[in-house]
Amino acid sequence: MEYKIQEVSERLHLPASTIRYWEGEFDGFITTKKTPGKQRRYTEHAIEQLRQIRDLVHVKKKSIAEARKLLGIGNEDTGKINWRKQSILLTGGTGSFGKHFCTVMLEKYRPSVIRVYSRDELKQHEMRQEFGEDKIRYFIGDVRDGDRLKRAMEGVDIVIHAAALKQVPACEYNPLEAVKTNILGAKNVIDAAINTGVKKVVALSTDKAANPANLYGATKLCAEKIFVHGNSYSGPRGTRFSCVRYGNVIGSRGSVIPVFREQMKSGKITITDEKMTRFWITLDQAVDLVVSALCHMQGGEIFVPNIPSMKITDLARAIAPECEVQTIGIRPGEKLHETLITAEEGRNTIAYNGMYVIMPDHSWWKRHNYESGRKVPEGFVYSSNRNDHWLDIEALRKITRPASPGTDDAVANFVSTIHRLSENVILDMIGSEENIPSPGKVLEVRI
Ligand SMILES: NC(=O)c1ccc[n+]([C@@H]2O[C@H](COP(=O)([O-])OP(=O)(O)OC[C@H]3O[C@@H](n4cnc5c(N)ncnc54)[C@H](OP(=O)(O)O)[C@@H]3O)[C@@H](O)[C@H]2O)c1
Repeated sequence: MEYKIQEVSERLHLPASTIRYWEGEFDGFITTKKTPGKQRRYTEHAIEQLRQIRDLVHVKKKSIAEARKLLGIGNEDTGKINWRKQSILLTGGTGSFGKHFCTVMLEKYRPSVIRVYSRDELKQHEMRQEFGEDKIRYFIGDVRDGDRLKRAMEGVDIVIHAAALKQVPACEYNPLEAVKTNILGAKNVIDAAINTGVKKVVALSTDKAANPANLYGATKLCAEKIFVHGNSYSGPRGTRFSCVRYGNVIGSRGSVIPVFREQMKSGKITITDEKMTRFWITLDQAVDLVVSALCHMQGGEIFVPNIPSMKITDLARAIAPECEVQTIGIRPGEKLHETLITAEEGRNTIAYNGMYVIMPDHSWWKRHNYESGRKVPEGFVYSSNRNDHWLDIEALRKITRPASPGTDDAVANFVSTIHRLSENVILDMIGSEENIPSPGKVLEVRI
């Protein structure tokens, strides 16, 4: 005798979404069959397996990781996802992270489908031209619209939440719009994910959320908190939520390197403060971080990459050694140094698998997946001026050297230079978080 999921759901008093979720988490343990029309059917044996899981998770209150161990499955899901079986929804999929994520996914991981979710039809049209629509589907929608999100998440296994308003001045000038997109949008993503039985959700956050100095950072801090606590709301459905937090991916328009190159023509470049430092991250590294977070997450962690820092003065010397450097002063909402892990968060942070993991500050949170993690030293703060890993002038000179001398196209030069470099050195140049200069305005350097 074989049963449909609704029949199993009634027999075991479990929502169908929980059954689907457990099938993913206990992949290989629950043995289902498929009809010729590819409908899933459950044998008595599969129902018994689900019953065992239910007893462990719901009655004995074991975590998924503990239940896997007790069932003899071990913990091998850590570090492993069967990507070909995953349907992914990517909010903000037409942005710089989103497009790069799609490129890497299609080349390397080949998920079943990626649903891109964003507002602007033109960007989606352009993306469709570039990526086609075989493995990528395009959903017009706003993260402010919970119903639309819920519809878009039906049948989805993994959600990456990248949509955000992220220009610091725009968020300052339109504070409620930033709140609606970054905070209420985060809440909508969480509700829709729980209601549709999504398994894992990773939200993208920023260094600006750590001790925020501007509204953008404050909204991202709220979003992080909502995501971390989303795990408490998901109940028996078991949707897991985590965040990744990284620093500026220095962008092409108005961000520091192209601006330096432009200013070089006048023989003078401007920096905001001689003491300023920044982290450097490539889009590849950002995508790797998200993939790693998805593989290792239990829910509630904030994953932070281990990346190098540089001094703004070194960058100026590397790019424009002959130019006069003028200091124009730090601007409102700008920090001298970026912080990725604050002193308070440091108390709950471990170094694990080439990254830092900030764990939730709750007594009930158990570190199953992080037994091999190393506690960071007491008083640990991870800021761009207190980093063990620095790019010196020579390294920066190599990174920023034009691909073909004499070409004026700074962005093209830079991007092609990046492609020639090994992945642990720098970076993508598209889509800086902060800086869009107005047309015709004197360019000021911000990083
Ligand atoms: N770039 C960086 O340096 C950096 C650093 C750290 C963290 N982050 C974080 O990484 C994420 C992605 O950044 P990014 O650089 O890829 O940004 P981006 O290039 O500006 O892309 C933003 C994306 O979000 C979409 N979007 C904006 N508002 C939306 C809304 N209300 N509903 C649905 N979609 C919306 C945009 O498309 P539409 O306009 O068509 O809707 C676009 O696809 C953000 O959460 C950001 O905070 C970025």
